[in-house]
Amino acid sequence: MSEIRANLKNWIARNRYSALAQYLGAALAVWVALSCWTLSAALHRHLFVLLLAAVLFTARFLGFGPAVFCSLVSTACLDFFAVPPYFTFRIGTSADLERLTAFLAISMFAASMARQKTLAELRADRTTREMAAIVEYSSDAIYSSRPDGTITSWNRAAEQLYGYTAEEAVGLPVARLAPPERLDEVERNHALLNGGGHVASYQTERMRKDGTRCPILLTVSSLRNARGKIVGTSAIARDLSAEKQSEDAMRRSEKLATAGRLAASIAHEINNPLEAVVNLLYLARHDSSHAAEYLAQAEQEVGRVARLAQQTLGFVRDASAPGSMDPAAIMDEVLQLYSGKLVGRQIRVTRRYRSGCEIAGYSGELRQLLANLMVNAVDAMADGGSLQVRVATGRDWSNGREGVRITVADNGSGIPRDELRQIFEPFYTTKKDSGTGLGLWVSRGIVQKHGGSIRVRSRADGRATGRATGTVFFIFLPQQQEISRVA
Ligand SMILES: Nc1ncnc2c1ncn2[C@@H]1O[C@H](COP(=O)(O)OP(=O)(O)OP(=O)(O)O)[C@@H](O)[C@H]1O
Ligand SMILES: [Mg+2]
Repeated sequence: MSEIRANLKNWIARNRYSALAQYLGAALAVWVALSCWTLSAALHRHLFVLLLAAVLFTARFLGFGPAVFCSLVSTACLDFFAVPPYFTFRIGTSADLERLTAFLAISMFAASMARQKTLAELRADRTTREMAAIVEYSSDAIYSSRPDGTITSWNRAAEQLYGYTAEEAVGLPVARLAPPERLDEVERNHALLNGGGHVASYQTERMRKDGTRCPILLTVSSLRNARGKIVGTSAIARDLSAEKQSEDAMRRSEKLATAGRLAASIAHEINNPLEAVVNLLYLARHDSSHAAEYLAQAEQEVGRVARLAQQTLGFVRDASAPGSMDPAAIMDEVLQLYSGKLVGRQIRVTRRYRSGCEIAGYSGELRQLLANLMVNAVDAMADGGSLQVRVATGRDWSNGREGVRITVADNGSGIPRDELRQIFEPFYTTKKDSGTGLGLWVSRGIVQKHGGSIRVRSRADGRATGRATGTVFFIFLPQQQEISRVA
């Protein structure tokens, strides 16, 4: 039955622009109604109903114009065949006129209602088809699943991203797409969405049919039926592989550019003391009375080159695999290393550690980072002061990731506001002969390599305003980190 209806609909749809066919169809409907009325004794007393049915049919399938035409023809037929005097168009009584007018009004009203319903259906049908085409040809993988997690639909982009055809994917559990360590993530999402909750878009990883991983941006939401009941979930997965590759390439080229700049700067920085050494050696050779003095100066210059080399090596960094490390224990080691200096400068140290701060990373590099901050703090407190160090678990200030927060605070001279922006630049130093200006630059590189962040807050104008001066460095190192592969 539905096939016949669909065929009829198709036929009518194909001929819908042929007005003649539509009006002929309306006349045909009236003719069929009249034939039924004439041929069937059972329907003999129901011409009114038969003609109304013809009007409704015309309105439903042929359009409002043919329906009006059908209403008028039906009214005329009713007058001709069913209103006395029969077989003329004359109307005998005012009651008959009222009946005919009522038929015309009802059929016109029914025609317009039926037509509106058809139009609404056509619109809904078109919207559904358009939406289906958008989903099918979207460049993002779009798929849906039942509340129990069984996949129910799968578009072309999903086929390309995951490697399963629609036939293979439909019926599979959606958890099949998650790598083993992310199965609980899928369960969490499903539980949340089935309970009416919301999941914000996030970056994650899924597994292709061949077992390879793909980074994606995942948006999941619940699907509801007309009554608002949750009937499943939908997922939109954007493939981030290309983006990640270009990000990596960009990071690599940035690193190369930085390394190039660094090499040029180092060559320049080393050249000055080397020139001085050459001159001093020349002088020592030709002026033996001051040779010891010249050699001492040359020694100082060579020491400067050695410091530069040491900091630069810090940039090259630890190439071994990252391991588990306890930042609090490393902080203690560094404090121990500089204890002589701290006591000598009368610097009071306050430590506040919270246990359970272990993270993955390069302990040698963290040691260097903390040592750089410590030496800077000591340098800033020439007349003694207080150094506060804190290590605690916490979240990143900007994106809420879990990890470890390290704070190194001193009440030393502070950094003037206009210099704050430069302190992380290579070779920026206010310590003329003793500093290379690489300490904070290297430190920031180490933090970035560990996927963390470093911030500084400082006040230097305290003496003028009477307020305390000092500097605080805040470091965040994430718990789960993807350590930059490009060292
Ligand atoms: N805790 C601090 N208090 C005051 N100024 C600081 C502090 N930390 C850094 N600075 C300023 O930032 C500058 C850059 O520091 P950075 O550690 O990069 O180089 P440096 O200490 O001068 O030399 P080195 O490479 O030997 O460490 C310092 O010269 C200093 O002016
Ligand atoms: Mg320094």
